[in-house]
Formats: sequence, structure tokens, C-alpha cells
Amino acid sequence: MAQLWGGRFTKETDKLVYNFNASISFDQKFYKQDIMGSRAHVKMLAKQGILTEEERDQILEGLDGILKDVENGTLEITSEYEDIHSFVEANLIDRIGDPGKKLHTGRSRNDQVALDMKLYVRDEIDEIDGELKELLTELLSLMSDNVETYMPGFTHLQKAQPVTLAHHVGAYFEMFRRDRERMADIRRRMNLCPLGAGALAGTTYPLDREYTARLLGFDGPTRNSMDSVSDRDYVIELLSALSTVMMHLSRFSEEIILWNSNEYRFVEIDDAYSTGSSIMPQKKNPDIAELLRGKTGRVYGALISILTTMKGIPLAYNKDMQEDKELTFDAIDTVKGCLRLFTGMISTMEFHRDVMEASAKNGFTNATDAADYLVNHGVPFRDAHGIVGRLVLLCIDKGISLDELPLEEYQKISPVFEEDIYDAVSMKTCVEKRETYGAPGPDVMKKVIAVNREYLEKN
Ligand code: ARG
Repeated sequence: MAQLWGGRFTKETDKLVYNFNASISFDQKFYKQDIMGSRAHVKMLAKQGILTEEERDQILEGLDGILKDVENGTLEITSEYEDIHSFVEANLIDRIGDPGKKLHTGRSRNDQVALDMKLYVRDEIDEIDGELKELLTELLSLMSDNVETYMPGFTHLQKAQPVTLAHHVGAYFEMFRRDRERMADIRRRMNLCPLGAGALAGTTYPLDREYTARLLGFDGPTRNSMDSVSDRDYVIELLSALSTVMMHLSRFSEEIILWNSNEYRFVEIDDAYSTGSSIMPQKKNPDIAELLRGKTGRVYGALISILTTMKGIPLAYNKDMQEDKELTFDAIDTVKGCLRLFTGMISTMEFHRDVMEASAKNGFTNATDAADYLVNHGVPFRDAHGIVGRLVLLCIDKGISLDELPLEEYQKISPVFEEDIYDAVSMKTCVEKRETYGAPGPDVMKKVIAVNREYLEKN
């Protein structure tokens, strides 16, 4: 048991207590960030004359050696140390002796861990952003290829009006674009450096916090030292944004599960992204989509967990906050994995365009357009609604769609109908006429695709 704080104690820590308190099993994940933070701290201490240049160089060399040895596997991070901070400091002292003991001057593990966590979260936000961008790129290419792929649009999971696959996928493009914007927002707001806050009340050394902040790529130092060591808002914001990403992935996965079912057959998930049954030889199951949907609960759990942990914590640092790590790491890894798998799944999925179009036709998604036809010929909308309702009933009775109903039958119910009704209720016309900005009409859809392509090029 290597502890940094033995001086005041006369007894050994109980073994169970030691294990309960230790965080090395999980905070070793940010060994790199911890070393980066220490490097910046030491440079600043030397600049301020708190350390000599020689001490600085010895410490920097020692830290670099630790980083290199951890990365090439010659130095193992073990449970002998309480946390990653103790591991690095103890190893530094082992390597370079006395100058290593000066590393922690003007610093507390409270501002140190606040810094490490921020650096880690910041790196991960950048990675998640990259995954989201890949997904958006895939979605945009699906959209470009399917501007004229007709399919039913649903409300209440009942066929409503015809849309296109480009339009349906475009809805998800907007969701994941907002997810990216949320990530960027969080990154911007959290980008102030807590180092120099000390345990809670700053330090008596003449630290240059601006300088350390700049070295570490922050926009500046945090403004209140008590807040600096006890702020986990950015973790909560991140987990909230990640929960929203998962909610979006889950909704899309749910649709893919439906579309992939024998009843819909709109898509077929690739063999590489499906699994079989141990008993039913015919089965090809959408397990990956189901797991994506299922893992959403786990990320929501992390959000609720940290919100609950933080709600009763008095200022400033309290050990409860150590609980932020495992759940954040798990949520981040889950979301990154899910995004990668989802992008892979949709880029290999086969779309049955004929089935989608037939489904739009057979579900009376053009009924509103038939009513609009009457309105364009002077029939009040409410009457037109009633007339088309009777036509739909007749078609259901005959087991046909509106474009298969003979003109005499149309005219028996309303003499206003002419031969051009067939053009008016064709899928092509129904979609082409929907040209309000944001609608599925191909011209306006292409405009939106161009806007989103420009966004991806610039961001
Ligand atoms: N492992 C701790 C955490 O994750 C580091 C900070 C420890 N500070 C302390 N005063 N015990 O929060």
C-alpha cells in the first residue's frame, strides 16, 4: 500500500478500507492526462521561480520515462497504489529522487483529479465527435442515393403520407447533427483549467494559472477555486448529451428492427451484422440493433447515477465525486462502440426499395392527395375528406389501392374526378408536390442535402 499521506497516521489502513477507497483500478485510464497535467504544472512552477530549471528538467524527464514505460508495457500500473496520482508521484520519486518530491508543490489531488477528468472528457468528446461525423457522412450518402425512393411515412405507426427514404433518414441526420452541436457546446463551456485551485482555496505560491491553462489548451483558468474542485457539471452535461445520442440510436435501431422483420421487409441487415438461433434454423436475428437499443438504459443509468451522487454534496471536494469515473468511462465506451457498430450496420444494410414503394401505395398514403385534388377542383376540404374516406372504404372492400380503382367508381362517388386523378395520386406526384422547405419533394430535398453537405465540409 503506497500512500501519499501516511505522516499523520499511527495505524495501517484496514485492507478492506484501502480497497474500498482506492481508485487505481479505474483512474489508471487517465495516466496520460495525469502526466500531461504534471508536465504543465512543473513548467509553470519553474517559470515562477518556485522550482529551478534543473529540477524542472529532471522532473520532466522522469515523467516522460514513466509515460514511455507505461505505454510500452515495461511499467505496470498495479493496485499497490491508491490512485493514478500516487502511482505517478511515487514512480517519479523512485526514478529521480528528491526533485520528484517537489512535483506536488502548490497542488492538491483535488485540483489534479478535476484537471485529469476534464482533459479525459475533452479528448473523448473529440473522439465521439469523429464517430458522429462518420455516421452523418454515411447518412448523407444514403440520403443522396434515395431522393426518389418512396416509402410510407407513419404517424401512430399507421401509414400516413408518402415520404422518401432520403427524407426519413434526413430526420436522423438532423438529430445526430444536433448531438454534435451539443458536444461542441459542452466542450466550449468546460474548457477552463481547474489546476491551481489547490485543495479548495487556491495556494500561497505565486502560481501563473493563465500560463498552465494555455499550456494545456484551455481558454483560461477557472474563476472560483471551490467550484473548480467540486464542479462536475460538464460530466452531467456530457452524460445527458450521450443519453440523447443513445436515444436517437435506439429509435433508429427500433425502426430497423421493424423494417427488417418478415412483416415489413423494407431492409435486410447484412449477415455480418446478424445472428442466428440455436434452435430455429430459419432465424436471422437483428441482435446488434437490439443491443444498441438495450444499451441505452445503461447510459441513462450513468446520468441518473451522477445526478443523484452530486445532489447532496456540500462544497467543496468530497470523496463521493470519485464515483463519477467508472460510470462516465463506461458510458463513453458504450456510446463510441454503439456509434461505430450502428454506422457499420447501416452502411452494409440492403434496402428493398420496391417493397417500400408498394407499402406506400397499399396503405392509402395518397388519400390526402386525392382530397387535395378535389379541393383544387372547388370542393370544400371537409366534403373532400368525406368523399375520399368513402373511396378508401370501397378500396378496402375490394382489396385494391386508390390508383387501381376504376374511374367510374370514382365518379359514382364524385363526378368531379377525371382521368388525371391517377396522376394526382401516383407516388411520384404525391412526393414531388411536397416542396415546402424541409418536406420530401426531391428539389427541396436536394437543397437540404446541399446545406448539410456544406455543414459537414466545414465542421
Ligand atoms: N481518487 C480521487 C477522485 O477520484 C482523487 C482525489 C482524491 N482527493 C482526496 N482528497 N482524497 O476523486
